[in-house]
Amino acid sequence: GKDGYRHYMDKELHEHPLVIGQTLRRMIDPATRRVVMPPLPFDLAAIPRATITACGSAFYAGLLGRHWLESEARLPVDVDVASELRYRDAPLSAGGLALLISQSGETADTLAALRALRAGGQHVLSVLNVPESSMARDSDMVLETVAGPEICVASTKAFTAQLSVLACLAIATGRARGTLSAEREQVLVQALLDLPGKAAELFDLRADIQHVAAIVADARDVLYLGRGAYFPVALEGALKLKEISYIHAEAYAAGEMKHGPIALIDRSVPVVAIAPSGRLFGKTASNLQEARARGGRLIAFTDAEGAAGLRGIAEALVVLPEADPFTAPILHSIAVQMLAYEVALLKGTDVDQPRNLAKSVTVE
Ligand code: F6R
Repeated sequence: GKDGYRHYMDKELHEHPLVIGQTLRRMIDPATRRVVMPPLPFDLAAIPRATITACGSAFYAGLLGRHWLESEARLPVDVDVASELRYRDAPLSAGGLALLISQSGETADTLAALRALRAGGQHVLSVLNVPESSMARDSDMVLETVAGPEICVASTKAFTAQLSVLACLAIATGRARGTLSAEREQVLVQALLDLPGKAAELFDLRADIQHVAAIVADARDVLYLGRGAYFPVALEGALKLKEISYIHAEAYAAGEMKHGPIALIDRSVPVVAIAPSGRLFGKTASNLQEARARGGRLIAFTDAEGAAGLRGIAEALVVLPEADPFTAPILHSIAVQMLAYEVALLKGTDVDQPRNLAKSVTVE
């Protein structure tokens, strides 16, 4: 049941801290504070490149997975949606890693991509929430997201569980490839262990998110912007808004805005920026300044330091707890999911069963 929550989505949003903790416990040894992967049927150190594929939110998790695998393990990674990858006839490296991501393990396109990658000589590793699914049966190895059943059609907790697994995989791969020092691993693992507590703090931001939701709910179109690790978060925020509130939303890499989408901006098109402090903050802030100068209503998800830099630009701010840059994108993805939920409440839509959507897409 809904345990007293109004919707499964609200219940599942509140399960983020628990699910992240459960998922990490499978892969982090609390005594040594190191990532301990289950034995893999291939050598992570010998993988020449990875091909990540998935659909929808799981694809966005894959984009963040690429970010971590590239930065921490220096592994070359391709990411594509399964419906494209399966027909793309992409050249694959011998002995490469195919990394499939799926909540249900039954998505037709992802399953077909899995089979194509296997036929192409790849080691098949799947990140799945349903360990007895069709994809599990066809994989060399499964890394389980311990999210429990996800009832709401729009994915929430399964997404952050996927991110938790991918972050650990990037750490294990970095260690195997010799790109990650023991000290750096300790910092990253600590950041992961801090996540459940910080995720729980996000529910204190509800009033601020409701304030933002009132601005978004009035709009017909919304633009989401983020850079680097926050671009996949922007994509996730825009998809969730479309799915459950039926408001048209698009996500752009912040630097792409001036290459076209800026033409859309006026007072009627709110811009939701995912822009915490960090290496790329200044770049994103100047893109936001440009949007502001064109009359755009700017909303920013940020942290305390970022808020100081955005106060004159943004009309509304949601200030998340400080977090290591490695894990901050996970917290921000919960926050944008919470925003979509609050907007849907204002619109009065059927949050758990949005029109035209099915939980598991088993046809092409
Ligand atoms: C988004 C959503 C969908 C799924 C996609 C993949 O909220 O729920 O985009 O992420 O259909 O489904 P799985 O993960 O079951 O392969």
